[in-house]
Amino acid sequence: MSKNIKSIILAAGKGTRMKSDTSKVLHKIFNKELLGYVIDAVNDTGLAEENYIIVGHQAEAVEKYVSENYKNAKCRLQSPQLGTGHAAYQAYEDLKGFTGGVLILCGDTPLLTSETLKDFINEHEKSGAALTVMSAIFEDPTNYGRIIRDENGNLKAIIEEKDASPAQKKIKEVNTGVYLINWAEVSDAFLNLDSNNAQNEYYLTDIVKWTINKGLKAQSYILKNNEESYGINSKLHLAQATKVLKDRVLEKLMSEGVTIVDPDTTYISPETEIEADTEIYPCTYIEGKNKIGKHCKIGPFARIRGGVELGDFVKIGNFVEIKKSKIKDHTNVSHLSYIGDSSLGSNVNIGAGTITANYNHITKEKFNTVIENNASTGSNTVIVAPAHIGENASIGAGSVISKDVEQNALALTRAPLKIFKDWFNKIKK
Ligand code: UD1
Ligand code: MG
Repeated sequence: MSKNIKSIILAAGKGTRMKSDTSKVLHKIFNKELLGYVIDAVNDTGLAEENYIIVGHQAEAVEKYVSENYKNAKCRLQSPQLGTGHAAYQAYEDLKGFTGGVLILCGDTPLLTSETLKDFINEHEKSGAALTVMSAIFEDPTNYGRIIRDENGNLKAIIEEKDASPAQKKIKEVNTGVYLINWAEVSDAFLNLDSNNAQNEYYLTDIVKWTINKGLKAQSYILKNNEESYGINSKLHLAQATKVLKDRVLEKLMSEGVTIVDPDTTYISPETEIEADTEIYPCTYIEGKNKIGKHCKIGPFARIRGGVELGDFVKIGNFVEIKKSKIKDHTNVSHLSYIGDSSLGSNVNIGAGTITANYNHITKEKFNTVIENNASTGSNTVIVAPAHIGENASIGAGSVISKDVEQNALALTRAPLKIFKDWFNKIKK
């Protein structure tokens, strides 16, 4: 595998069944957009020079997302939306003169992996085909385009469900909607598409017949794990895909030596790295990009929101939320705390109910908290950021810390304790 590729990702469709104001491809799993999963899978092959995202429905929002997150992706508007072939054609001018392979995919398939794409690209290049389509064998092929083969088993065409004969409808090999074409050989197909079909659309699938009629080789690559072709069309699909993705992550982590006490109630994002011998207790939710060391204990009922780095032997206990923070070895945040935009040294003890108050609601600014090695906070401490708590410093329970605390010091804010003797009997009278 050597040649670079470019991709066209179709994302102009409406996604009516999502019943949402948000574009289908901007729906998220683990706080990452569906479209992001697809672009990342393509980029992670290490072969993608450039990606063209075809936008239509909610074009502005999708373009904003793409331009803010991907340097090698450009959006092309499809308006009106006349079918998948017409959609891919929107990148035709951009690709003029390109001599490599063009990968065409849909923006709503977050379970497709870069490993599969690499294998697909590799097979295509080895075979000398001008076009390879990714197919899958489905027990229930309803609604998919069917893969039609000749008597020798060679790919002949793709027929949509609505155009298929009763015999063709029985075929279980379906089109997953992923293609790789040698652009120089096949791009003319886009100039020859028509909409003479049951849906009056320009079908991308018709490029298969065109390629074969030109005397070029077209073939199908059968997907090994059907799950990967799963397209999201509804909120139910979104939940099902989340589950598949999380199970995939948990299985990988367990195979690498991470203990997951209850996989059913544990959610960990694909972008979280965890080292061996760390234990994750039930009802823990970890999203975004995080790095967690070895021998940590996390949960039950912990939430890690991304941008978190934990060293080794760190303890994150029940009802603790951690966001965008670094925590070094042997530090405990055992109960009921919020640590955000913070940097904690090693061997720090965070008392129950400690809050780093990092957000100014009026100015919308966020501030950092630094807590040095060996410091401790008492229960119910509020640290109003920005704040620096020095090495070995102690904070008394119930304190509101609104300035820096120097090393080795004790800081506490506490109203004097008042005791009213015999209170019960006075009130009773
Ligand atoms: C398409 C394939 C079908 C395949 C199935 C796999 C065609 C004609 N059919 O069918 O063989 O089995 O995908 O899921 O290609 N889109 C646009 N612009 C348009 C139309 C669609 O960008 O004008 C995008 C959609 O947003 C979506 C993708 O293309 O991401 C597929 O469109 P969809 O309408 O779902 O195609 P299917 O009918 O499912
Ligand atoms: Mg579809």
